[in-house]
Amino acid sequence: MTNGNAQQTAHPAPPCVMVIFGASGDLTKRKLLPALLNLAEENLLPKDFAIVGFSFDQMTTDALREKLGREVREYALRPVDDARWQWLVERIYYVQGDFGDPAAYQRLKDQILGVEKTHNTLGNRFHYLAVAPKFFSPIVKQLGQAGLTQQENGRWTHVIVEKPFGHDLDSAIQLNKELKETLNEKQIYRIDHYLGKETVQNLMVFRFANSILEPLWNRNYIDHVQITAAETVGVEHRGGFYETAGALRDMVPNHLFQLLTLTAMEPPISFEADAVRDKQAEILHAVTPPAPETILQTMVRGQYGEGSLDGEKLPAYRDEPQVAPDSHTETFVALKLCIDNWRWADVPFYLRTGKRMAKRVTEIAIQFRKPPFQLFSKTPIKDPRANRLVIHIQPEEGISLRLGAKVPGSVMKLGLVHMDFDYSRDFGTSYSTGYERLLYDCMIGDATLFQRADMVEAGWSVIQPVLDVWKALPARDFPNYPAGCWGPQEADAMMARDGRAWRDIDSDEPLTANCPARASGKAHA
Ligand code: BG6
Repeated sequence: MTNGNAQQTAHPAPPCVMVIFGASGDLTKRKLLPALLNLAEENLLPKDFAIVGFSFDQMTTDALREKLGREVREYALRPVDDARWQWLVERIYYVQGDFGDPAAYQRLKDQILGVEKTHNTLGNRFHYLAVAPKFFSPIVKQLGQAGLTQQENGRWTHVIVEKPFGHDLDSAIQLNKELKETLNEKQIYRIDHYLGKETVQNLMVFRFANSILEPLWNRNYIDHVQITAAETVGVEHRGGFYETAGALRDMVPNHLFQLLTLTAMEPPISFEADAVRDKQAEILHAVTPPAPETILQTMVRGQYGEGSLDGEKLPAYRDEPQVAPDSHTETFVALKLCIDNWRWADVPFYLRTGKRMAKRVTEIAIQFRKPPFQLFSKTPIKDPRANRLVIHIQPEEGISLRLGAKVPGSVMKLGLVHMDFDYSRDFGTSYSTGYERLLYDCMIGDATLFQRADMVEAGWSVIQPVLDVWKALPARDFPNYPAGCWGPQEADAMMARDGRAWRDIDSDEPLTANCPARASGKAHA
């Protein structure tokens, strides 16, 4: 495929100040600063721009500038242009304070007002809450009390809230309620970094800018959908957090549900934020709530034990730092969900995500129905294979379609071939953090790629019954998969009961040997 003329119509964002809560933390150095530099390179940052960092650490503005200067060279994905960095760093300021201390917000306010004059940012602000979730509500409350959330005379104030947004349905409802005591819904930008990924955004373009797909995109032609987000890393240094979350909370109501809703939603009538988000929300509302008695069969949980990958020995989850030696936290989950609407009735959506799996891959595989009758039965082709469209999200980015074709020769033999679109080959590599578009959209007031309150709550409603059943019946077989494989055998059994199998990412065949040590039931994909 070749790259047609991409249209570039974006303009620099309007003048504004970005306030970063948690300015000395991980997200700021790894993602936010590199993303801001990339935006500056693309001329999308306003020339009247400034950053005020706020955190608990004792530091001066000079010290923060110096620290970020070192870190940005370590974490930026593109070469750092000294002049561009100089331009940005001169606009960075720091305020030290406790997130719960009203006096600190007065100091913050004085700093913001000073910076607004110096940099002529016209009173527009956005606050980025790159902090632990327990601080979301107190910070917003303090901001309100300090008069830092008002919008008047055309000035805007937006607040970006990181994930996790609540840890269950009740806490998400409560958090929404508390934020809305200070802010209105249009000021709240609930971020999900999956929506910053090019290939995730491309899902909408791919589906709705190509007329050949829409007629096929339904229960008449699609057998089932598999959504996979597999990681090879373990819990790294986040054992403490992960113990309170687990794979289901950490990945499903947010990242996997973005992929699910963008795959399944009806065409929106426009790309206006609410037009798109209404359609995504409809899907979440149409997911059949899992009945408690079926949950243990259709919602599989796993936890990794010792294992190995590429010859490297890997520890069990229970031996990771800050993890309880008898932990019941799941590091893997596989779910079968059904969407009860006209388009998707009887088309299962299988979702799986886990840590310490055999390969790092995020993808959506759309499995079409098999050809309807046995035209080839008198030939060596006994079993024509279904077409499959795979949307590769990461690390490969692209789309491939599997087709059956005749292998050249005098006997009729079927081969599988792939038509591929490869992002980097066709459009070049972008070297973006994924936060560029989201930061820019927040500055221009476009909330399309952010979560609305009702969407977050609808996502939690889907998984709440699962959380309840799992809590009442803690897993008794943990650890139940060795690190370095595709999860517990029960996940394969769940598919096998439906006569299906997970796609083997490497061979594009049904997965038959999940772990080197064992082979699971066979099925034809
Ligand atoms: C985060 C989760 O939201 O997403 C992590 O908290 C996970 O546990 C990460 O590793 C995955 O993101 P990505 O972009 O690497 O797929």
